[in-house]
Amino acid sequence: MSFKLKKNEDDVLEINKLLDSIIESSYDGIYVADGNGDGIIVNEAYKRITGVHEDELLGRNLKDVVNKGIISESVTLRVFKEKKPTTIVQIVKGKEVLVTGSPIFNEEGKITHVVTNVRDISELNKLKVELQEAKAYTKRILKEIDGFKKREDLKRLFDSVIAQSDKTNRALNLAKKIAVVDSTVILLGESGVGKEVFANIIHKGSKRSHKPYIKVNCGAIPPHLLESELFGYEKGAFTGADGRGKPGLFEQADGGTIFLDEIGETPLDLQVKLLRVLQEFEIMRIGGQKTKKIDVRVVCATNKNLEKMVERGEFREDLFYRLNIVPIQIPPLRERCEDIAPLAYYFLRKTNSKYNLNKKINPEVIYFMEQYHWPGNIREMENLIERIVVTTEKNEIQVTDLPPLIIHKRKVVKNNQSLKEIVEQTEKEVILEKISEYKTTRKTANELGISQSALVKKMKRLGLS
Ligand SMILES: Nc1ncnc2c1ncn2[C@@H]1O[C@H](COP(=O)(O)OP(=O)(O)OP(=O)(O)O)[C@@H](O)[C@H]1O
Ligand SMILES: [Mg+2]
Repeated sequence: MSFKLKKNEDDVLEINKLLDSIIESSYDGIYVADGNGDGIIVNEAYKRITGVHEDELLGRNLKDVVNKGIISESVTLRVFKEKKPTTIVQIVKGKEVLVTGSPIFNEEGKITHVVTNVRDISELNKLKVELQEAKAYTKRILKEIDGFKKREDLKRLFDSVIAQSDKTNRALNLAKKIAVVDSTVILLGESGVGKEVFANIIHKGSKRSHKPYIKVNCGAIPPHLLESELFGYEKGAFTGADGRGKPGLFEQADGGTIFLDEIGETPLDLQVKLLRVLQEFEIMRIGGQKTKKIDVRVVCATNKNLEKMVERGEFREDLFYRLNIVPIQIPPLRERCEDIAPLAYYFLRKTNSKYNLNKKINPEVIYFMEQYHWPGNIREMENLIERIVVTTEKNEIQVTDLPPLIIHKRKVVKNNQSLKEIVEQTEKEVILEKISEYKTTRKTANELGISQSALVKKMKRLGLS
């Protein structure tokens, strides 16, 4: 401690008075005992914090004070024993207090006094609890935001699936409904109808959405590698194998979903092994000795007619029944005409934003698209729109920009069409085709063998003007 006092205060009395008021004004409680353990100083804060009156301490020996139960434990007595500063936490009158005792030694190394400092830490602890509560609250909010984000992601995913027609909606609703249970699903449909899109939805919409999602194209992996890819292998299982062994895709998908795409391409010998996995939910690595339990949800897809394959002996019947638990048939695009316009605009928006363009589609183009039979389904349409958008110079895509295949290969007659509708539809198509070829009504009328005014009138009636 250092002093620097003004000259007129520079006497012992003044120093004592100053020290007294410092001790008295300290926010922490101070209690001082002499070398015998008798209390000699207690400040106001000590009484406030501990609730013990000065009469109970001053001039009294700490051993008696403890024996009488006025205080539960004396840090001063400990300091006498251990001869070094000591800190304890005590409960006094329901308050948690931090008590530190520090010895003062004389030249012979004997303790002459013990100064005890008492600090009320219940306030501090209250703050600590509040802080913990605030932290827990933040965590909960973050979790809620996370959940919200997940729901948003899911919503965005569902929104990106175009489903206007009843048929598509039926399939989509079944997929959403079945997503939340663990049943095996088989997605059936021609190439390009959106089987993978549905598989994604089933995984993302399930409680496994944050677990692995492993896609396996059974048709793209060479048959002799498929087994080791699916089930993995132990070290030294075969020549050329990774020296440390490797987990298979089933093991990697543990806890999540495995999407077995083009399941119809699986070689027969592997079908037996697949069946065992689906029955037991156990795998054994190639060259391994023990089986391992796995928890995977299986979604598979094929554009093949598996029933026909079973009849021909190309697909195991038992595996077929194992997989065919919840079949979802995704209709071809030509059977869901109502989806064509929204899909076309969806892909237009997508391509525009991909290439930073702002192209439009003439509604006649949509009309032609609706008549086309789309053997490559949605994928064919997606590719076509991207190709036309980036290759045409004009700002609006016209019928003339469509490939001849679409202009000529239309479905001619739809079910339930009246003769009048068929005639009108044919007139419309022929006029549009000729107009796009001859560019003017005069030349077109000439080509069709009618007057120009008759053609214009007809076009008005058909809504083509
Ligand atoms: N309902 C839909 N809405 C929007 N886009 C779709 C929809 N269905 C499919 N698509 C898109 O069409 C393309 C083809 O879909 P997908 O790859 O899922 O078809 P698939 O049935 O798996 O085809 P394949 O049998 O050839 O593997 C993808 O780019 C996909 O994003
Ligand atoms: Mg696919």
